[in-house]
Amino acid sequence: MTGDGDGSDPGRLDGCVALVTGASSGIGRAVAVDLAACGATVAVTARRADRLDDLVAEVASGRGTATAVPGDLTDPAAAAAIVAEVAARHGRLDIVVNNAGVMLLGPALGAPLDEWDRMVALNVSALLHVTHAALPHLLEAATGPRGCADLVNVSSVAGRRARANAAVYNLTKFGVGAFTEALRQELAGRHVRVAAVEPGAVATELPTHIRPEIRAEMTRHFTDVEILRDTDIAEAVRYIVTRPRHAAVNEVLIRPTEQVN
Ligand SMILES: NC(=O)c1ccc[n+]([C@@H]2O[C@H](COP(=O)([O-])OP(=O)(O)OC[C@H]3O[C@@H](n4cnc5c(N)ncnc54)[C@H](OP(=O)(O)O)[C@@H]3O)[C@@H](O)[C@H]2O)c1
Repeated sequence: MTGDGDGSDPGRLDGCVALVTGASSGIGRAVAVDLAACGATVAVTARRADRLDDLVAEVASGRGTATAVPGDLTDPAAAAAIVAEVAARHGRLDIVVNNAGVMLLGPALGAPLDEWDRMVALNVSALLHVTHAALPHLLEAATGPRGCADLVNVSSVAGRRARANAAVYNLTKFGVGAFTEALRQELAGRHVRVAAVEPGAVATELPTHIRPEIRAEMTRHFTDVEILRDTDIAEAVRYIVTRPRHAAVNEVLIRPTEQVN
């Protein structure tokens, strides 16, 4: 176990167990690889089990440790069971990265209600269910040698700035920001650090779920912009969870240099 609680290197996560949601692609996958490289045992979850198995193998080939706990986080029972399984399998839970999310942009007028429901179910409800199940384990971990635990919620620039055609995505990410800050205040005294990461545009699968007839219009702002890489966000998460126990990074807003809003 590392951290400044026992005078060892806070930049290493040896002995820590991390859970990363939405780890089958994009940001979550990059975060999992990065945390494993820091020495954490990383439990990865998403629905696509084959992708998770590939990730586990990749981490193992770099001498890291990852385990797959596949499931659909929009099923509340599954979300709780995944957290319980990780804690039972590894005996502890020090870091949770709530990353799974979906962005179904488009005008509110006439939008398929199913798209709104899917965003609320994953970006908000699933994040709440994972957090609810994880908190007792994080509080327990914070009493250990590292002296702290970490909950990192992946929000978005869309959690800071509302814009037309993103109404419900904005709703979910503003909600994540509010929940993160309130929880941070509740848990500060017990050394569970709660942080939000708010990326701008990152090259991932995220826009591919937008209806094709509106995707081009929604993404046209970024055609000439060098957008972020998933590893840029992984570095931000690593920075947050490797601070010494007396330092809590509450919020990281990270945009491509050329992204104005
Ligand atoms: N890319 C960007 O520009 C950007 C910007 C700001 C914020 N973000 C946020 O970053 C986070 C990660 O997104 P990304 O860009 O990396 O997109 P992504 O590549 O599409 O990854 C989304 C992840 O969520 C998982 N997921 C989707 N539905 C799920 C479900 N029902 N249960 C469990 N897991 C589910 C997906 O895995 P399965 O399909 O295998 O389940 C996948 O691993 C999201 O919260 C997003 O809002 C992204």
